[in-house]
Amino acid sequence: MTLPVYRTIADMRAQVGAWKAAGLRVGLVPTMGALHDGHLSLIDEIAPHCDRIITSIFVNPTQFAAHEDLDTYPRNEAADLAALDTTQAQCVFAPSVSEMYPDGFTTAIELGGPAQGLESDNRPHFFAGVALIVNKLLSQSQADVAIFGEKDYQQLRVIRRMVRDLDLPVEILGGPIIREPDGLAMSSRNVYLTAAQRPIAGKLNGILKNLAASTKPREAAEAEAEAALLAAGFTHVDYATIRDADSLAVPDATTQSRRALIVARLGDVRLLDNMAAI
Ligand code: PAF
Repeated sequence: MTLPVYRTIADMRAQVGAWKAAGLRVGLVPTMGALHDGHLSLIDEIAPHCDRIITSIFVNPTQFAAHEDLDTYPRNEAADLAALDTTQAQCVFAPSVSEMYPDGFTTAIELGGPAQGLESDNRPHFFAGVALIVNKLLSQSQADVAIFGEKDYQQLRVIRRMVRDLDLPVEILGGPIIREPDGLAMSSRNVYLTAAQRPIAGKLNGILKNLAASTKPREAAEAEAEAALLAAGFTHVDYATIRDADSLAVPDATTQSRRALIVARLGDVRLLDNMAAI
């Protein structure tokens, strides 16, 4: 079977309209393509929550800064469509940049709360771009449910907050991180790793586990994780931290559950990972 690929909002909406008229519940799996098993697992995760699944493929320019990898971001639509053919998805939405951002586009979303700090310290433009495109995709698809991977944990928290704040009529699910055998979280950007960097990348998850399980005072545990990352060969640590799992603020007496998050670099490659902390 070859999945239908819709290039325009109108064509995708016509399909969604027919599904909704039949009383079917629509699920959306937003992606930027370069699909790996982590993306495909999101389709399996959302399937029990809806009757029809749309997977979107769109490399969103507004979430990249000028110096970032928009032009070189891995793109392979033919391989993505072949992979999606083997899944439970019913169609693909793969619009052009001009379809999503027509001439004169000017609207922006301002975020606070969980969008502050961590990724925003390193990529100040990032969450505004993500929030904008996710808003557009949700509104275009009229999805009843959408899913985002927990690898981008802060992104998931930002999207949940935005959906609640803007009363968007959609249920947001988080999909578990899918890992390589050595623990490296799957990511489209892992293809950037050289043969020499790849074994070092595999050490990040063990260091994260130690951080998440540490009984030391938070700041000591964070310093220990940062030192372990540098000793393992990472060239820079953007952050190795324990935060409130909901607000992503520094934990305090009101914190119910905690999350350990690490972003470390190998040269130009930023690797993200996170897990529940004690
Ligand atoms: O996580 C991603 O792949 C992207 O940030 C998303 C959510 C598809 C928005 O472009």
